[in-house]
Amino acid sequence: MLGAATKRNADALDDRKGRMAESRPASATSTEPTKVPGRRAKTIETRGVNLFYGDFHAVEEVTMTIEPNKVTALIGSSGCGKTTFLRSLNRMHELTPGARVQGEVTLDGEDIYDSRVDPVAVRRLIGMVFQQPNPFPTMSIYDNAAAGLNLNAKKVSKAHKDSVVERSLRGAHLWDEVKDRLDKPGGGLSGGQQQRLCIARAIAVEPEILLMDEPCSALDPVATLAVEDLIGELKSRYTIVVVTHNMQQAARASDVTAFFNLDATGKPGHLVEIGPTEEIFTNPNEKETEDYVSGRFG
Ligand SMILES: Nc1ncnc2c1ncn2[C@@H]1O[C@H](COP(=O)(O)OP(=O)(O)O)[C@@H](O)[C@H]1O
Ligand SMILES: [Mg+2]
Repeated sequence: MLGAATKRNADALDDRKGRMAESRPASATSTEPTKVPGRRAKTIETRGVNLFYGDFHAVEEVTMTIEPNKVTALIGSSGCGKTTFLRSLNRMHELTPGARVQGEVTLDGEDIYDSRVDPVAVRRLIGMVFQQPNPFPTMSIYDNAAAGLNLNAKKVSKAHKDSVVERSLRGAHLWDEVKDRLDKPGGGLSGGQQQRLCIARAIAVEPEILLMDEPCSALDPVATLAVEDLIGELKSRYTIVVVTHNMQQAARASDVTAFFNLDATGKPGHLVEIGPTEEIFTNPNEKETEDYVSGRFG
């Protein structure tokens, strides 16, 4: 028996299918994203990941596989450790003073916490988009899109930079809106445009993974749909993990959903279950997942 909220989620699933079908070229019949030749998104595996802030145990024993060319949504009530877990996937967690990581995170089998691995290189391969769009406000749109390149490459030709900026802005569905004002400050764009500019900045360096922490929470509904569509398109090139507290967004925009919960305030958050989004929203294995997705708590 579907509750009203579960029904809404199911409608969001249908809505997503409808929109995806509309945006697909008539010739394409498969629901699989087109793979880009010569480039491969990577599988993330976590094993027994525990995350601490000093003595506080924030996330307990997360073991999951995050598949390439799919959007994986992390859902769960506020404070259950979604952001903390996300930040452990690109070694940002350890930037917080006193923060510690236990367990293993691998990218196609390579341990990102191996002592020989450079954390700066890991953060470069794994792009991050934050809750509040954070372009450099006084820097031009062009320089914002190229910002990662300036830091990462010793010498980049102007022609190469131009082509990367255009490709990234096109990839972020922003090019047509900004191509005539590339020299204007990034801070002058609307919120939704700023978030797409941040996505352009993240993809300019050709990351293997994109992590997004509630990327639409500061956006209006129209900008939200634009970013969700963009996320759906980017999965043909990347492994994407999106934190969202918006159930319908998870239903619309993700292929796989991981539900996190905590037993009581002050206790660590943990993974309850992970599975195809459709199953998590309509027929989850755990009672607590069903309670959450049907809006009974959280
Ligand atoms: N910098 C920090 N220092 C100490 N505790 C933190 C810090 N950031 C988050 N926490 C705590 O870790 C837990 C998980 O937080 P967070 O990952 O932000 O949850 P979510 O993103 O699911 O809302 C919460 O109890 C939060 O208060
Ligand atoms: Mg959070």
